[in-house]
Amino acid sequence: MYFPKYRPRRLRSNKHLRELIRETHLSVKDLIMPLFVRPGNGIKREISSMPGNYQFSVDTLVEEVKEIATLGIPGIILFGIPDSKDELGTEAYADDGIIQKAIRAIKENVSDILVITDVCMCEYTNHGHCGYIKKDEKTGEYQIDNDETLKLLSKEALSHAEAGVDIVAPSDMMDGRVGAIREILDQNGYENIPIMSYAAKYASAFYGPFRDAAESPPSFGDRRSYQMDTPNSEEAIREVSLDIDEGADIVMVKPALPYLDIIRLIKDQFGYPVAAYNVSGEYSMVKAAHEKGWLDEKAVAMETLMGIKRAGADIILTYWAKDAARWLTC
Ligand code: PBG
Repeated sequence: MYFPKYRPRRLRSNKHLRELIRETHLSVKDLIMPLFVRPGNGIKREISSMPGNYQFSVDTLVEEVKEIATLGIPGIILFGIPDSKDELGTEAYADDGIIQKAIRAIKENVSDILVITDVCMCEYTNHGHCGYIKKDEKTGEYQIDNDETLKLLSKEALSHAEAGVDIVAPSDMMDGRVGAIREILDQNGYENIPIMSYAAKYASAFYGPFRDAAESPPSFGDRRSYQMDTPNSEEAIREVSLDIDEGADIVMVKPALPYLDIIRLIKDQFGYPVAAYNVSGEYSMVKAAHEKGWLDEKAVAMETLMGIKRAGADIILTYWAKDAARWLTC
């Protein structure tokens, strides 16, 4: 594929020519909108570190989801901010938990939109870690108990299924969680609910604004013992193959921008549906620069989303989903 006499500029001089040779097409149908839901009524509280994004109560959330469906966006992913947090993250798998209520309300009032849920413990535990914490008797240090966490995550995924979720998305990065969730869903007659696993999830500073939004920063330590280390890409292949073997239907790379090479690698290596999470920090830094007049938000956002698509993502989770839906049609 090397054409020494070929002059690409000839095909750039006119809008129609550029469109004819375009290799990547971004569509509203590629996008998923993340949404935050909290207890209460009539609440629509802007998240200060993520302008244009809100914590909703269930009633206002339903109105928001109706609007999102009207824009042609195929799905939303829900994050819950519970009433109360405890050591075992009980509200994560309570039948009347905030997410379970939100799923039911959306399913009753909005047709034709996919409801995806983030399956994780960090928003529900009082220590803010993604699982069950136990003290190491020898060192006195607190550690995540991987296998105990699997039991909690399975209960959480099942309770979302019972409430009517369309896709579950485990984001905790415990070993074996996709298999555990697949098993409990199948045993209970939910074999048609797909799993979108956060398969290559890096320990990233770009999650900062999200942790404000979801009120879920770890109260001690960090998440480096279970999330991936930035310099590694072979490890991403191992993580993704394990998740696929355990039953993941869609595999996710997160964050997106500093890991575009990982998106391409996973797409080429596995030929599976790949999702990329354009995370909170990637959004907020552009918003901040736009507010200062340093960047044009719309142009940068569309270039970002196109870049993620070109890298190989089939699905993009992005806080720009609503804006992009409008920008793509005008
Ligand atoms: C974990 C989870 C996180 C995000 C999505 N799911 C936070 C984390 O792992 O610390 C981050 C998303 C974002 O930054 O937009 N439940």
